[in-house]
Formats: sequence, structure tokens, C-alpha cells
Amino acid sequence: MSKANQILEFLQARNSAPRLTSPAPNDAELNDMLRCALRSPDHAWLRPWRFVSIRGERREDFGAVLRASLLRRDPEADEAACDKALQAPLRAPLVVVVFAAITEHPKVPAWEQRLSAGCAAFSLELAAEALGYAAVWRTGAYTEDAELVRDLGGEDHEEIVAFLYLGTRDGAPKNLPVLDPDDFHRAW
Ligand SMILES: Cc1cc2nc3c(=O)[nH]c(=O)nc-3n(C[C@H](O)[C@H](O)[C@H](O)COP(=O)(O)O)c2cc1C
Repeated sequence: MSKANQILEFLQARNSAPRLTSPAPNDAELNDMLRCALRSPDHAWLRPWRFVSIRGERREDFGAVLRASLLRRDPEADEAACDKALQAPLRAPLVVVVFAAITEHPKVPAWEQRLSAGCAAFSLELAAEALGYAAVWRTGAYTEDAELVRDLGGEDHEEIVAFLYLGTRDGAPKNLPVLDPDDFHRAW
């Protein structure tokens, strides 16, 4: 198979893995993945992305941050919901939080900067899969919590676009739906 076809096959088969286990990309591999993300399309080269990686025991601290966020949003949250928040980061050996760092620019509105950060998150997913790992992109109501952004070291102009859970696929790959490009594309 030609190299181009191999790349197309890879891109057409990409899929998320909701269940992840160890190992995760190591620091050198994560660095390579970040280099891929840094080549995401970016109007005016604003570099509107930031990344925070959380692994090992720090995931427990992250769980505590999620639980605190849940309790701010819903002070009546029951123990089961609190436990779920606390345990959430333990679903993968590595979590990378992707932020959009939004700045004022005469030609680049905030939505374009958010899309660039989203492309960077997707690039991390692709790079992880290229290295033989797997990923799932999660968000949820936590992304709306400015205090959580600060707890993770984010600044006031930074928004969370992804909690990227990374590791090794746990279980069999899922069957992928076969979608027809004609259902989504028309020539104009
Ligand atoms: C911006 C964004 C936010 C997402 N948030 C969640 C989420 O909070 N929980 C979840 O289960 N999937 C979420 N997903 C979807 C999964 O990452 C994944 O794409 C989906 O399960 C479909 O699987 P596939 O990528 O293998 O087609 C999100 C995707 C995007 C692009």
C-alpha cells in the first residue's frame, strides 16, 4: 500500500476509546504529540492553545478539583455523584487538559481561536493513535467553571476545550459506523 493510502486508512479508522488503561504516552512521546498539535491551523499564528498534563497521583488531586467544582454547581450533589467526580480522572493513566487562550485580535475572532485549540486537541488524539495509544475527548459542565480553570493553573482568558483522556485501549476496538460522504457533502 502506498504511504498516502496508509495515511488515509489511518485517518478513516481513527476512533475514540472510552475505556483506557496503562501504559500512557511517556513524557517524550507526549512531547512529540504536542509538536503535532503545535502545527494546527492558526489564523495569525496566535498560538491560542495551552496544555496541562496530569498523570499518576496528581489525577487524584484533579479528582478533588472536579468534586469541588461539582459542589459549586450543585451544593446538593449526593455522595455517589461526588465519588464519580473524584474517580473520573482515574479512568485513564494520563489526562491532558486543552485550553483555548483567547485574545483580542482585529482579524481573528474568539471562535476562530477556539477552533484552533480544538484542532490541537484532535491532533493530540491522532498523534496518540499513531503512536499505538488511544484517546477520548471529554468535556461536560466542568468546562464552564472559571474557578476550575484557575485551579488547573489557567488564566482568566483561558477556556477549557478538552479533557483528553489518554492511554492504551482497554477491550476490543468498536465497530465503526460506515458513513457516506454524499450524505454530508454537495457540490455548489
Ligand atoms: C468538543 C467535544 C466534547 C466531547 N465531550 C464528550 C464528553 O463529555 N463525554 C463523552 O462521552 N464524549 C464526549 N465527546 C465525544 C467523544 O470524544 C467521541 O468523539 C465520541 O464518543 C464518538 O466516538 P468516536 O470518536 O470513536 O467516533 C466529545 C467530543 C467533542 C469533539
